[in-house]
Amino acid sequence: MKTSIKIISLFIISIPILYCHTEGHKHGSANHHMHKRSTEDLIRMFESPERTAYQEPDKVLAYIGDLKGKKLMDIGSGSGYFSFRFAKKGANVVAADVQEEFLAYVKDRITKEDVSPGSVTQRKISYTDPFLNDKEMDIIFLCNVYHHIENRQEYFTKVKKGLSMGGKLVVVDFFKKDLPIGPPMDHKIDQETVKSELEKLGFKNIKLDEKLLKYQYIITAE
Ligand SMILES: C[S@@+](CC[C@H](N)C(=O)[O-])C[C@H]1O[C@@H](n2cnc3c(N)ncnc32)[C@H](O)[C@@H]1O
Repeated sequence: MKTSIKIISLFIISIPILYCHTEGHKHGSANHHMHKRSTEDLIRMFESPERTAYQEPDKVLAYIGDLKGKKLMDIGSGSGYFSFRFAKKGANVVAADVQEEFLAYVKDRITKEDVSPGSVTQRKISYTDPFLNDKEMDIIFLCNVYHHIENRQEYFTKVKKGLSMGGKLVVVDFFKKDLPIGPPMDHKIDQETVKSELEKLGFKNIKLDEKLLKYQYIITAE
């Protein structure tokens, strides 16, 4: 009798623990795949000159346009690759991520980078919620993150509510074709799917660019 009570209690206790551990990390998911590498390795890869060669961040920044005084959330900011570049162009950036290790890296980077005080702040968000206030951001940016988000209908409804009047969503992600870098084919989401998902949620003025970058498309929407 006592043993069966112990087994049942263990089972009940382990449900939330297992749930927390697998949130956003289901076997076969983009996050599960990405975290086969250590966070250190991932940061090295995100910040590498090889990445910059194909990422061409200056082109991306020029494409987005004037950032002075804009409130911008970088969802899935990772190592802060784009966050600090945005801040250096005058944006007030909220570098948002789900992963403690990435947040710790960016926290340290804030003290070292030559950016004006307060221009990069941080927010720990959840896998299912970017924790945006209504109309809080002028720009919401995701680079190589769209394909990590699972319940996108629910998630991007919250993103849309977080955009100010005239605010802009910017999605950069990998073409769904054979590429020398990026996630496996079955994790990629092609540009037409992104467009139609955003259209269904009521985003307007959806624009697609397939020419600016070698391996990634850029979608903007209001
Ligand atoms: C491939 S990295 C891209 C990092 C960065 N945006 C860049 O371009 O270098 C994906 C990032 O998305 C974050 N991420 C994964 N799932 C997420 C989710 N559901 N919501 C927000 N961020 C997420 C990861 O922790 C990681 O920092």
